[in-house]
Amino acid sequence: MTTAQPERFATIHWEEGGEPRSARWRCERGTAPSARVVLADDTMPADVAYRLACEGTALLWRGDFQNARMLLQSLARRLDKTGERKAKKKPAAPSASGMPTPQVALPFHQQRHLQAQRARVLSMVLIELDAQYEIALRRAPEVQAPCTDAWGAPQGDGAQVVSLRELQALVGAHEWRKKGVEIPALAKLAPKGYDRIHPHYGVFSPVRGEYVDLIAQAPLPTALAKKSLAYDIGTGTGVIAAVLARRGIQKIVATDTDPRALICARENLERLGVDQKVELAQTDLFPEGKAALVVCNPPWVPAKPSAPVERAVYDEGSRMLRGFLAGVSAHLAPGGEAWLILSDFAEHLGLRSREELLSWIAEAGLQVVGKNQIRPRHAKAQDSANPLHQARAAEMTTLWRLQVGW
Ligand SMILES: C[S@@+](CC[C@H](N)C(=O)[O-])C[C@H]1O[C@@H](n2cnc3c(N)ncnc32)[C@H](O)[C@@H]1O
Repeated sequence: MTTAQPERFATIHWEEGGEPRSARWRCERGTAPSARVVLADDTMPADVAYRLACEGTALLWRGDFQNARMLLQSLARRLDKTGERKAKKKPAAPSASGMPTPQVALPFHQQRHLQAQRARVLSMVLIELDAQYEIALRRAPEVQAPCTDAWGAPQGDGAQVVSLRELQALVGAHEWRKKGVEIPALAKLAPKGYDRIHPHYGVFSPVRGEYVDLIAQAPLPTALAKKSLAYDIGTGTGVIAAVLARRGIQKIVATDTDPRALICARENLERLGVDQKVELAQTDLFPEGKAALVVCNPPWVPAKPSAPVERAVYDEGSRMLRGFLAGVSAHLAPGGEAWLILSDFAEHLGLRSREELLSWIAEAGLQVVGKNQIRPRHAKAQDSANPLHQARAAEMTTLWRLQVGW
């Protein structure tokens, strides 16, 4: 008797030339492939493609690659128009005072819902890659390097199918990884040293890096003089650990639950020449022991991530934030400080209140000994057409200096 072996990975199936075909399904979100797949090329009118994509039929592209990009743009324009019509029908609840009210969360949820619908439709245009990550379409770009960054070296396990949208994201991430993000705080701390951080695909990028200035400027706790040890909880690219090392802290233990983050942090710390001072650990929140300084920049928005790449931005039920606050006092050396980096964007959206945050701090037996603040400088804060502009324009990022209460 033979038992069916479970599939090693998700597979997408379609019919081509009268034959059944299948390929490995690549999807960062972990969404199952569409059960309905049709072949599409340059002859398919955009209106037909739009209708099929909205119905959940995937379009496996067999035409000119650049025309697939154009098709995606025209699908996006159609979706934007529909989104605008919906937004006009359901105006956002007015907020006369600009103060957080529970209704303010509505535009946030509406916007996320629209974004999810948009992503679902746009993800219906699919591209096939061969076992070496090559695309056999006219005018197709070379994508081996971006795919290798994100998925690892080709394993020779046959054809792969990915949405064009995801492929574009991989290419964008690859460019960021090559170019890196300049971190002014790293440059100020070592004017002749390397000052860029190279984010990997799926790892939180410090591209909006004002919070890094807060870490570079806050007064270091005097307890470090006794034992120069700090923890960086949720290190991502390793940027905070690097700043702490450049501030002269002798040893930093940096943790993350995401293996991709740890690989990325290792590379960055080596490039910056501080890897000897930083130990990396794949750990849920804290390593064992106590340190004079424990820093954490958790995801700022308490909402459900819809893909692994969103786990660094959305923290469902404020799990990481609350876990950090509840556990940190047990990891602080006498006289030590916990530094929590948090924007109040979620407060302006009505997703978390200041009272809640203060109550979690108090319940953890911590007291606030200082607050350093900075306003985000990113473009979205200035964009009045952004549906969340009001919250973005009011946003403030705070480094909360916390100590165990007396
Ligand atoms: C907002 S990002 C901050 C990254 C980096 N510290 C920075 O400031 O750029 C949050 C990071 O925490 C990590 N993370 C989430 N939950 C975690 C947990 N329970 N323990 C450790 N790290 C976690 C995520 O993988 C992500 O890299």
